Amino acid sequence: MTPRTESGKVDNLESRPRAGDPAAASPRIKIDVRGLVKNFITNGNLVEVLKGLELQVYAGETLAVVGASGVGKSTLLHILGTLERPTAGQVLWEGEEVFALDDRRLAAFRNRKVGFVFQFHYLLPEFNAWENVMMPALIARLSKTEAREAAEHVLVQVGLKERLHHRVSTLSGGEQQRVAVARALVLKPEVLLADEPTGNLDPKSGAQVQELLLNLNRDQGLTSVIVTHNLELARVLDRQITLVDGKAVTLRGD
Ligand SMILES: Nc1ncnc2c1ncn2[C@@H]1O[C@H](COP(=O)(O)OP(=O)(O)OP(=O)(O)O)[C@@H](O)[C@H]1O
Ligand SMILES: [Mg+2]
Repeated sequence: MTPRTESGKVDNLESRPRAGDPAAASPRIKIDVRGLVKNFITNGNLVEVLKGLELQVYAGETLAVVGASGVGKSTLLHILGTLERPTAGQVLWEGEEVFALDDRRLAAFRNRKVGFVFQFHYLLPEFNAWENVMMPALIARLSKTEAREAAEHVLVQVGLKERLHHRVSTLSGGEQQRVAVARALVLKPEVLLADEPTGNLDPKSGAQVQELLLNLNRDQGLTSVIVTHNLELARVLDRQITLVDGKAVTLRGD
């Protein structure tokens, strides 16, 4: 049976040093961001978004990233998830510098490790929920049967058992967002990166998605980094950071 802490969270034994261990005070670092710099050049102008950002994401935690529009939250998430390369600095996943990998290996790494829920969810509206969720599994070359089973499993998990055959364009905003979460989970990622997952939802649907994200962390120990403007969601996550002048500042938690 999986041990649980008093708060009901799965005690991720792998990531928690035993009592008496000299490392007891330092939980396992899943992603270690060092001196991260990201610049964009737009119409000949240099835009400096991340300016030497340092951040550790711990195994099994839920981390909220909050902050005003344009401070670089999505940019940070994209780099954490290896969707975009930094201008300078390092991103180590369990000690491995991921951007040392060439594009092909980086894509394979991303498929295995990262589940991404985008700010604009990019579902295919004319396909049904099941087909949308199967897509990453098919791209990862699972057989059609395996992809169907994996997609069904995660759609049931996000509470959409009755919507498998419904076209995404006919689903509610909250349902669509849950399809997006299911799609992020279909290849069993180690880390879920979610960019404003409750952004465009009414309070009730937002609360459902919030509950879903918390359950995934509690039941499966899924490490989650969640960018959000939703203060209620940020409040219930383990730690909270913001971005100030291109650097991470801790608002709550160690
Ligand atoms: N591909 C790009 N090319 C040029 N500039 C970019 C690009 N992506 C982001 N930026 C710029 O970087 C800055 C940070 O953008 P980002 O999308 O990370 O902000 P954000 O904190 O996620 O904002 P929001 O809360 O509005 O989603 C913005 O000024 C944006 O215009
Ligand atoms: Mg954003």
